[in-house]
Amino acid sequence: MIQRKAFDGISEDAAKVISNIKSRWSCRIFKDEPVPKQVIEVLIDAANYAPSPKNCQPWEFIVLSGEPLHQFHESIDQWIKEKEDIKSQKDELKKLLPDGEYYTTLPRELLKRQKHFLQKVSEQLEKFGVKLKDVYKNTFYCHYAPAVILVISDSVKRDRHGLEVHQALAAAIQNILLVSHALGYGSCWIGDILRFGKKLNTHFAISEMKEVVAGIAIGRPGISVTDVSDKIKEAVDDNISETDFTMERIPKEPVDTKVKFFGF
Ligand SMILES: Cc1cc2nc3c(=O)[nH]c(=O)nc-3n(C[C@H](O)[C@H](O)[C@H](O)COP(=O)(O)O)c2cc1C
Repeated sequence: MIQRKAFDGISEDAAKVISNIKSRWSCRIFKDEPVPKQVIEVLIDAANYAPSPKNCQPWEFIVLSGEPLHQFHESIDQWIKEKEDIKSQKDELKKLLPDGEYYTTLPRELLKRQKHFLQKVSEQLEKFGVKLKDVYKNTFYCHYAPAVILVISDSVKRDRHGLEVHQALAAAIQNILLVSHALGYGSCWIGDILRFGKKLNTHFAISEMKEVVAGIAIGRPGISVTDVSDKIKEAVDDNISETDFTMERIPKEPVDTKVKFFGF
């Protein structure tokens, strides 16, 4: 098992960096408070310091707030409706599959960890009288965060170089998450918007040669005025203090990390 405690003699600066990494968490309920442009600029600047293959910095960003973000939400409404029409046909198809199971490329052990995590989130939300499904459906809307950064990559071939570019984008995203956290902002990496695929290109007039690889929700952690669920609204009306609803990070339980040391 990997040691979770820092060793003695660690410098104060190093301890701060490690603490920022370990205390970052995915925020899914945001305050309806605008994120200043200067904050976003600090985040993008941090992204540019991420490692990338031969420093090619293969990322571009579109940052949304206010009305353009609202219009994006409206398009998402539409895209989800269109998908639901197809879904009913898909359910029919599913019945024809041998075991009718949801197809995934993830190995069983990883699926088990995901399920466990969702259970934990669910338990946390239940404390506020909120159902997981009410929060999770907001994932497609980047959890209604007041600012959303879309991360765009050249649509590289899925070969070795393409993989490297992808890894660089992930490093840039992580920089954004870590700096947001250090600045007191909540953030959430959103892969679920990938389901909208090329519709995102059309909406934002992104060249066919590029693709959106993730969204990042940014905002102050808290409850969203944009109505997470009626339950929250009711509770707020009952004057339960706002801090009671601030989501917190789900403590990370140690997993049996597969790591081999040689020569130690
Ligand atoms: C590639 C990737 C895609 C993700 N997509 C989503 C998403 O679509 N919606 C969401 O709410 N969280 C998403 N997350 C956040 C993860 O659920 C979260 O990082 C994980 O559960 C660990 O929790 P933590 O970030 O609080 O430590 C994503 C994370 C990664 C790395």
